[in-house]
Amino acid sequence: MSRLDSNIRRLVAQRACLDRAAALIRGREGVVFELGLGNGRTYDHLRENLPDRAIYVFECLVTAHPDCVPAAEYLIVGDLRETLPRAAARFRARVALLHLDTASSNRAASERLAAELAPHMAPLLRPGAVIASGLPLPGGSWHPLPLPSEVEEGRYYLYQVPPAA
Ligand SMILES: C[S@@+](CC[C@H](N)C(=O)[O-])C[C@H]1O[C@@H](n2cnc3c(N)ncnc32)[C@H](O)[C@@H]1O
Repeated sequence: MSRLDSNIRRLVAQRACLDRAAALIRGREGVVFELGLGNGRTYDHLRENLPDRAIYVFECLVTAHPDCVPAAEYLIVGDLRETLPRAAARFRARVALLHLDTASSNRAASERLAAELAPHMAPLLRPGAVIASGLPLPGGSWHPLPLPSEVEEGRYYLYQVPPAA
């Protein structure tokens, strides 16, 4: 498969998973965390799908087009290894949807970062919270969700924290 085809499939999978995640949290309270602003594509998609949600965006280096940069109070600039643990004081059990999109072309380094961040995600998530991720996140307080039919196994990941009994 060409790199173009692979990239297109990843974007299709990403959009399908974000749409599924947005649908799953409809009617549930909580804010959205977008980890990795990048070009702002997925942030823009989330804010279009979830217009009434507070979406907090984490990024170490803001380079997105100004139209896709959130207002200052929703933008948390810095290395996630520092900003995410710090967010726990303010956002403990308040996040309904977390999108992890921090991967680079270095797969091993991206997986290491995801594994480092995962323990800091857990305290932020509400019961029933959904995670959409470009990388696997095994071993948390969440379980994998079935993927939308158009998403091949391993292209994108969806998880859910068990809802409150
Ligand atoms: C794949 S891009 C995000 C793409 C974006 N979601 C979009 O749709 O345009 C990954 C982003 O994660 C950011 N990132 C990677 N590691 C980070 C870290 N440790 N702390 C904060 N941001 C990080 C990078 O700067 C980059 O902008």
